[in-house]
Amino acid sequence: MSAVGIVAAAGSGSRLGADRPKALVELAGRPLVAWAVDTLLAGGVGEVVVVVPAAEREAFAAVLPGGVRLVDGGATRTASVRAGLAAAGTAADAVLVHDAARPLTPPDVVARVLAALAAGAPAVVPVLPVVDTTVVVDAAGTVTEAVPRGPLRRVQTPQGFHRAVLVAAYAALDDAAELTDDAAVVRADGIPVATVAGDERAAKVTVAHDLRIAEVLAAVPLGSS
Ligand code: C5P
Repeated sequence: MSAVGIVAAAGSGSRLGADRPKALVELAGRPLVAWAVDTLLAGGVGEVVVVVPAAEREAFAAVLPGGVRLVDGGATRTASVRAGLAAAGTAADAVLVHDAARPLTPPDVVARVLAALAAGAPAVVPVLPVVDTTVVVDAAGTVTEAVPRGPLRRVQTPQGFHRAVLVAAYAALDDAAELTDDAAVVRADGIPVATVAGDERAAKVTVAHDLRIAEVLAAVPLGSS
């Protein structure tokens, strides 16, 4: 099935403390956004739209391959993906939405998401188990409850959708709604979301410590981490 990728790269990255948008911060000498675009293309996505901060278009164009289309993002991730989806066209059967903040995602994860879509899932996310004991705390930080971790999963990107399913879900979503991922958007529209295995290398770079870990991992060949 043909797929278009949308890379959400319009965040400021204030938690990283960098002097530029997070997606332009370098990992092993290349901006995070370039890693994310390469992952999608290597995993089987045919074309890519990158959603960027409006004021930074030129800086993004300078570091991305010519075939990649750039679109201005919005104030929230939800608004940015909405803009990317509007620009993604109607030719592809599937849409994969990926965070620029997950630069080391192996192309295998992309391939697993595409395979699940081709097998009939309307929506699919890569997930990992929760290995720590997980609890709920009250306003004072006191533990009120332990959550059974067996059924819990951490959700990563790229998240894949049949294009019409994602378009309909965003159309049904309130303009002001702010959800943390796209699976939440389709679930709000009543669509079941399937899962495939994620990968620890797809961890999100949020704070400076994450970038230091990613620098170490980037030096390790795929398959050995
Ligand atoms: O802030 P967070 O790390 O959760 O953002 C996840 C992804 O969404 C990042 O790749 C970021 O660039 C993107 N994003 C966006 N538009 C925003 C906020 C975040 O494209 N307004």
